[in-house]
Amino acid sequence: MLTTIIRMDEPEDERIEEAAEIIKNGGLVAFPTETVYGLGANGLNADAAMKIYSAKGRPSDNPLIIHISNLDMLEDLVKEVPKVAKKLIEEFWPGPMTLIFKKSDIVPSQTTGGLDTVAVRFPKHPIAQALIEKAGVGIAAPSANLSGRPSPTCGFHVIEDMNGRIDMIIDGGKIEMGLESTIIDVTGEVPTILRPGFITQEMLEDILDEVKTDGGLLKKPDKDFRPKAPGMKYRHYAPKAEFIMFRGESKKVEERILSEVQKNLGKKIGIMTVDEHMNYFENLEDVELISLGSISDEKKIASNIFDALRRFDSMDVEIIFGEAFSQENIGFAIMNRLTKAAGYNIIDV
Ligand code: TXA
Ligand code: MG
Repeated sequence: MLTTIIRMDEPEDERIEEAAEIIKNGGLVAFPTETVYGLGANGLNADAAMKIYSAKGRPSDNPLIIHISNLDMLEDLVKEVPKVAKKLIEEFWPGPMTLIFKKSDIVPSQTTGGLDTVAVRFPKHPIAQALIEKAGVGIAAPSANLSGRPSPTCGFHVIEDMNGRIDMIIDGGKIEMGLESTIIDVTGEVPTILRPGFITQEMLEDILDEVKTDGGLLKKPDKDFRPKAPGMKYRHYAPKAEFIMFRGESKKVEERILSEVQKNLGKKIGIMTVDEHMNYFENLEDVELISLGSISDEKKIASNIFDALRRFDSMDVEIIFGEAFSQENIGFAIMNRLTKAAGYNIIDV
């Protein structure tokens, strides 16, 4: 398949119209959102939704998020909008928050992976909004990466994974947040975070009486213990290399990584660190060193994770050593993604 690639920083009417036509005709368009790139199709068209699964190589029991551009669209997709959802919507939409509702009958089960609930997000990115508005229909969109690979945070990542597999890619440059939306289930008694993101538990506690976090988010799933968002159970965001993280006091972590480097001489090694600790590792030969940013700027660190994992892949690194982060605030989302990327391989030192 020939993929049309369009570079655009702001919505351009003619090109958006072209992209919206593809969506209306059941095709696939990758587009930027403020969190990560999405791979979009008409969310109410079962065949179009199935095309997403095959383009990504994604298991079809893993449901998709439907993206909307106004609140009328929400009414059509869901059975009801609970009171707490209204509060959250007022505070955080448009933005990096996905809510899980009971689905209405017009949403095909192919979009929801067979569940009777539906995930909905109202993105803030102007190109995403313009595309949904022009298409006039909710756009089902997972992250625009091949299944199992790190989520795409710039146009190049999408081209790497999706060129030749979909109809169109809208390259909107580097994404500001670079981490997927916070997912909150509002179908139960107490709203529950199913995937952490920029909207943190702490922020939600400020406006809600009660909020829970799915206990499965940092633990390795097993038969008794499955995270509630089906996608959270896969080894995900994974680089090709073996990835081990070390957690503890920073001097100890440094010593441990240095000793691991000595033990693995002969392998191509990568180290994932922060600006403040670059000098620990600077004199090592034949080691690929990537800083995620300053330890004082957790938003920046979050936005660089996926790009760093992809860069290690492109350098053919065989083993990556990384430093674990604190789990406060956005740190929880950072550690959720890194823990999964490392296949739960975290060593306390
Ligand atoms: O920021 C984002 O959310 C990006 C952009 C493109 O909007 N999208 C995204 O989609 O990350 P995806 O498909 O990569 O991740 C969606 C997650 C999966 O873990 C999926 O299992 C979960 O949402 N999910 C979707 N529908 C659900 C439902 N009805 N109940 C529980 N989890 C659901
Ligand atoms: Mg994804």
